[in-house]
Amino acid sequence: MTAFSPPPFCHLSRVTIVGAGNVGSSLAQRILERNVADVVLIDIVEGRPQGVALDLMESRGSEGHNRQIVGTNSYQDTAHSDVVVITAGLPRKPGMSRDDLLQVNGKIVIETIQQALQYSPHACYIVVTNPLDVMTYLAWKVSGLPAERVMGMAGVLDSARFQTFIAMELGVPPGDVSALVLGGHGDLMVPLPQYSTVSGIPVTELVDAATLERLIERTRNGGAEIVQLLKQGGAYYAPASAICVMVEAILYNQSRILPVAAYLEGQYGLEDLYLGVPCRIGQKGVETVLELSLTEAQHQALATSADSVKQNIDQALDQLLEFKIQR
Ligand code: NAI
Ligand code: 2OP
Repeated sequence: MTAFSPPPFCHLSRVTIVGAGNVGSSLAQRILERNVADVVLIDIVEGRPQGVALDLMESRGSEGHNRQIVGTNSYQDTAHSDVVVITAGLPRKPGMSRDDLLQVNGKIVIETIQQALQYSPHACYIVVTNPLDVMTYLAWKVSGLPAERVMGMAGVLDSARFQTFIAMELGVPPGDVSALVLGGHGDLMVPLPQYSTVSGIPVTELVDAATLERLIERTRNGGAEIVQLLKQGGAYYAPASAICVMVEAILYNQSRILPVAAYLEGQYGLEDLYLGVPCRIGQKGVETVLELSLTEAQHQALATSADSVKQNIDQALDQLLEFKIQR
């Protein structure tokens, strides 16, 4: 019988999750129960990360793992993390404009990455806070880290939603479906049917154009549909799963090809922004950005999505002058 050997970079890994709200807590649970890494959960609210951590510690026996989790309000406890995930931020409330969210969450993301960086200068950073592409850009910009070590989570989630809706439509297991969504994390995201397959068969061969358009539209509204149902707060189970996939790809050095918000330097004709594109993800973070051939309409849609992200980056930089971020 072959002895069990843990995957490389796994057994002593440490992941810090900033923000012990719905997404942060669910992610902690996923990471522990999948035996991926030890977790440090940090939040600005006293008691919240400690309470969540204790609750999760008390499930270790039932869940059959021996991973540790610490809840804290001090960045010192996050030292030497391999991956830091930033989920801290406010959700949009009634009466709050998009600009308010840009500024409020921008400030939170900048301050949290600056603090985490002091204790984990060699970590890979995954940003989750919305508006995602802008927040990831700000995090990278203030961190001074190589772009490969700062990425945003959205494409894995948006693609999982497209995958789910295709599977539900066709009555096939989701595992048989592979779906791909690029672009910014918002209404202007760009689902790619020609790269979305069921057991290798392009989805365009299996559903008619009107059905496909309906599935694409539902994917674009995937986040909003859940907000509408929950009435308070947004999705967190599928987001946590999507982040966990990225964390595993880094810690296990999987070299997986995943759609993530990555820094673009000319790829797809786009420059100096973060946007969802397919990347090879491994121990170093974003190892390569892959350039797919797109239809003219998809190129145009990606450019439109990029324009919107760029405008919001400019707006955020105007609103966050106190941080003296170099343009
Ligand atoms: P939540 O409100 O449940 O949790 C946010 C947590 O951040 C709270 O516990 C709060 O105390 C904490 N926080 C606020 N300021 C902080 C600071 N300075 N330092 C440390 N912690 C701080 O919200 P939820 O549902 O967990 O969502 C978190 C963020 O993730 C939101 O911006 C949401 O829009 C975004 N999100 C993004 C997704 C994506 O696909 N990129 C998917 C789901 C959520
Ligand atoms: C989502 O797509 C709110 O961005 C979050 O569910």
